[in-house]
Amino acid sequence: MLKGIIIAIDGPAAAGKSTIAKRIAQKLGYTYIDTGAMYRALTHKAIQSGINMDSDHDLAKLLEETEILLIPENGGQAVWIDGVDCSDEIRSQEVTAAVSKVAAHSTVREMMVDKQRKLANDSGVVMDGRDIGTEVLPNADLKIFMTASVDERAERRYQENEKRGIHSSLSQLKEEIEKRDRADSEREVSPLKQAEDAILLDTTSKSIDEVVDKVIELAEMRMER
Ligand code: DC
Repeated sequence: MLKGIIIAIDGPAAAGKSTIAKRIAQKLGYTYIDTGAMYRALTHKAIQSGINMDSDHDLAKLLEETEILLIPENGGQAVWIDGVDCSDEIRSQEVTAAVSKVAAHSTVREMMVDKQRKLANDSGVVMDGRDIGTEVLPNADLKIFMTASVDERAERRYQENEKRGIHSSLSQLKEEIEKRDRADSEREVSPLKQAEDAILLDTTSKSIDEVVDKVIELAEMRMER
């Protein structure tokens, strides 16, 4: 019997982390945890409640009063906020544009990291985000840093939107992705960066199956140890 391991996947926006993480979790029968969804959920609630997104204190207080549930669903994950399914709302343009600001606050991050570590208590977990290998789960068995060229990331997001019936501008998507990468990499608290012991995986021009197979291969090597 192979042991369940902890897999951390980090990388810039729209690099395919969640698509890959979901597939791997499904294949291995692991729990998938999308940490970006947690920051998005808080951002959505802050917008709805008119909370000042420059205030760490106000956001932390809001987070304390908010129930965010990640519920496994169809191989993915639904996000419920205070008993309401907000899985689509947290992907809105408005939330996407504001989430990096919310995620930059230190108390907010401390509280989120605490929740994320509790969620990963069981072995057999795939968690994706920006600081999983560096901060949340520094002892993860396998750390992947997933990247792709910004042009390809914008193109993938564009196609994803088209499939969902949302028409977007490719150049605007590219700009939004670059802006978010800059904000996430330059923030003071736990910025996006590759952990020293993470394996860099550039997914430019690679199919989803190719990347999934590569990660599974790496995971199986860790399980046998
Ligand atoms: O993965 P995503 O695009 O849904 O994440 C949304 C934002 O949340 C991202 O721009 C930065 C922030 N985030 C973070 O700071 N730390 C994480 N572990 C996950 C996401």
